Amino acid sequence: MLEIQNLSKVFNPGTINEKKAISHMNLVVNDGDFITILGSNGAGKSTLFNAIAGVFLADEGKIILDGENITFLPDYRRSKYIGRLFQDPLKGTAPHMTIEENLALAYLRAGHSTDSFSRISKKDHEMFKEKLRLLEMGLEDRMNTQVGTLSGGQRQALTLLMATIVPPKLLLLDEHTAALDPAAAEKIMKLTDEIVKANHTTCLMITHNLHQALKTGNRTLMMADGRIILDLKGEERESLTMEELLKRFREGAKEELDDDRILLSDH
Ligand SMILES: Nc1ncnc2c1ncn2[C@@H]1O[C@H](COP(=O)(O)OP(=O)(O)OP(=O)(O)O)[C@@H](O)[C@H]1O
Ligand SMILES: [Mg+2]
Repeated sequence: MLEIQNLSKVFNPGTINEKKAISHMNLVVNDGDFITILGSNGAGKSTLFNAIAGVFLADEGKIILDGENITFLPDYRRSKYIGRLFQDPLKGTAPHMTIEENLALAYLRAGHSTDSFSRISKKDHEMFKEKLRLLEMGLEDRMNTQVGTLSGGQRQALTLLMATIVPPKLLLLDEHTAALDPAAAEKIMKLTDEIVKANHTTCLMITHNLHQALKTGNRTLMMADGRIILDLKGEERESLTMEELLKRFREGAKEELDDDRILLSDH
C-alpha cells in the first residue's frame, strides 16, 4: 500500500553542514501493517515521515501510496490520505476553538460531511459525541470547551481522534506518547491500538521505547544513518528479546549506540 523506492534526502548539500538524512531507502508497507520504527537520534525517522507527508520533496526516489505516485504531490493534497501525530500535543489542534469546532474542522477538511453544504449536521454532532465517549475522558460532555484548556493527554487523544475521524489510508505517529506522563501515554497507546484495529488503518509509529516497539503492531524497523538496518516480522520478531534486538542493532549500525538508555526507556 506504501512503496518507497530508492529514496534519498540530503540537507544543506555542498555545505559544511551537509547531512544525508535518508540514504537510498527501499520499503514496502503492506495493507494493514502496523510498523514500529526505532533508531537513535538523528537516524532519519522524522525525515522519512516528512518525505512521506510531503513536507519537502525528496532528492531522489519514488513514493507510491495505494498505487498512486505521490512523489511530487504537494503536502496539502497528501494530507487527505495521510494522518499525522507529533510528540507535542499542542500541534494539530486549535487552542482557541472548542472541541467540537476542532473535530468539525478535521472532518470537513477530509471532505466527508454528510451535509452537502459542508456544515456539521445533527448526525455529525452525534457521531462526534459518540467518538469522544469512546475516549473515556468525559470530553463528550465538554464539547464547547476550548481545546487550550485541556491536559496534554486529553489534547493528544483529541488529536488522534481528529487524525482518524475520517480514517486515513496511512497514519504516521512520531513519538506521539513521548511527551505525556506514563498513565496518559499508556491510555493514548491503548486508544491508538483500538482505533487502528477498528479501521484496519495502515500505520507507522516512531518510538524510542524498545518494549513498546516489539509489543505493538506486526513489524519493527530499525533505522541508522538514513537506512533501514533491521526489518523484523513474524516469528523472528515474536521471539526476539530486547537484549538480542540491541545486539543486532549494534551489528547492523556498525557503531555503538550513543545512548542505550534512550532505546531502553521503560514506559
Ligand atoms: N530541515 C532540516 N534541515 C537540516 N537538517 C535537518 C533537517 N531535518 C532533519 N535534519 C537532519 O537530518 C538528520 C535526521 O534527522 P531526523 O529528524 O529525521 O532524525 P530522527 O531519527 O527523527 O531523530 P530523533 O529521534 O532525535 O527525533 C539529523 O542529522 C538532522 O539534524
Ligand atoms: Mg524525530
